[in-house]
Amino acid sequence: MLRTTSEPITSTGTWTWSASCTSAPSTRRCCRSPKAGGCPRHWSWTSTPPPSAIWPAPECISGGLLNQGQIGKDRLVELAEELAASSVQAVVLIGGGEPLLHRSIGTVIDTLFDAGLQIGLTTNGTMINRYLDQIADKVAWTRVSMDAANETTYPKFRPAKRGRVVFPTIIDNMRQLAARKSGRLGYSYLLMQRYAPDGTVLDTNFHEVIEAARLAKDIGCDYFEVKTLVDDDHYTLSQKAEDIALVEGQLAEIRTFTDDDFHLLVSNTWEKVRAGIDPVELKEYHTCPVTELRTTITTSGVYVCPYHRGNPAGRIGDINTTSFEQLWKNADTTIIDPARDCQFSCSRYPTVLQIQRMRPDDGVTLVDDFDPFF
Ligand SMILES: C[S@@+](CC[C@H](N)C(=O)[O-])C[C@H]1O[C@@H](n2cnc3c(N)ncnc32)[C@H](O)[C@@H]1O
Ligand code: SF4
Repeated sequence: MLRTTSEPITSTGTWTWSASCTSAPSTRRCCRSPKAGGCPRHWSWTSTPPPSAIWPAPECISGGLLNQGQIGKDRLVELAEELAASSVQAVVLIGGGEPLLHRSIGTVIDTLFDAGLQIGLTTNGTMINRYLDQIADKVAWTRVSMDAANETTYPKFRPAKRGRVVFPTIIDNMRQLAARKSGRLGYSYLLMQRYAPDGTVLDTNFHEVIEAARLAKDIGCDYFEVKTLVDDDHYTLSQKAEDIALVEGQLAEIRTFTDDDFHLLVSNTWEKVRAGIDPVELKEYHTCPVTELRTTITTSGVYVCPYHRGNPAGRIGDINTTSFEQLWKNADTTIIDPARDCQFSCSRYPTVLQIQRMRPDDGVTLVDDFDPFF
């Protein structure tokens, strides 16, 4: 799932795959038309049951996509093979649900890795130990959704089934991964508050951002990512001045202990909330180049981008009944009109503007070495 704000250096029954064209330059420009057999940069995302240990929080933006079944075990492995045989370059495994819960996840990771694709993983962290070797050796980045600094706050926002205490298990899993990993490990912190009808704050995690960042550094994470809640339609939610100040003060302190091995990432959505920018972000264009680079695969369909998952207007096919190659060949990625359909805050907006500024004769140099996760 995705409102992948900023991945390292750059979003529960679900995952994501992303891919890019074989000669995509640092400018992220696609080399040839995907419809001509070219180069999607794919997000796939398959609904699975909710995580075994954790219920989706009420705030979970993918709540509506959960429990819609899952892509079959065999079809998923087949899909991984199809992606491996394509010019797709990177896949993000994410979810509304928990990607590590799918019975074929180990095979999927092996298949993608063996074919040279880069893999990103967003997980609740409860089952890292089950796939420790594969994640440590084969996953380019792993982002663990924590949203808390301790086991008192954690269950308020990530409630465990039957009251199980999972926070220490997740921390232990992260420590094990940090000690062995070849890729990057991130601690994701979604800022959340719940209010009573009279406006009183019932639950909050705004106060312990600094404690979580210290824990992330102690674990050996490469980065700590702060994000803010968006509503079901991806619009940012405004916050009170004193709450913004509380978070900003902690971010300033965190910056004092960041270094080459430990980075602070702040989402563009928080930057907007902090600056009081209007949640409505009007787009001036009618087709989006990012839809040629990033796609989302879910149980209920394949969508032009993560933001339009579950939106019938953004659906470009069904991976359960169509091969990846056929689906991509027939896909009409222009069905979404950003001027009309994307007035929320899109983290790819700067990328779109950058791509639009480029012209075939503008002297852009293609390079082989680039980050396929953008
Ligand atoms: C829904 S989770 C699913 C993947 C995996 N099970 C996990 O726990 O990370 C994917 C990401 O979506 C983010 N997310 C969920 N609801 C959100 C919302 N309303 N606003 C912003 N981010 C949200 C979470 O922070 C999490 O990092
Ligand atoms: S502008 Fe719209 S179509 Fe393009 S990436 Fe953003 S949400 Fe998706």
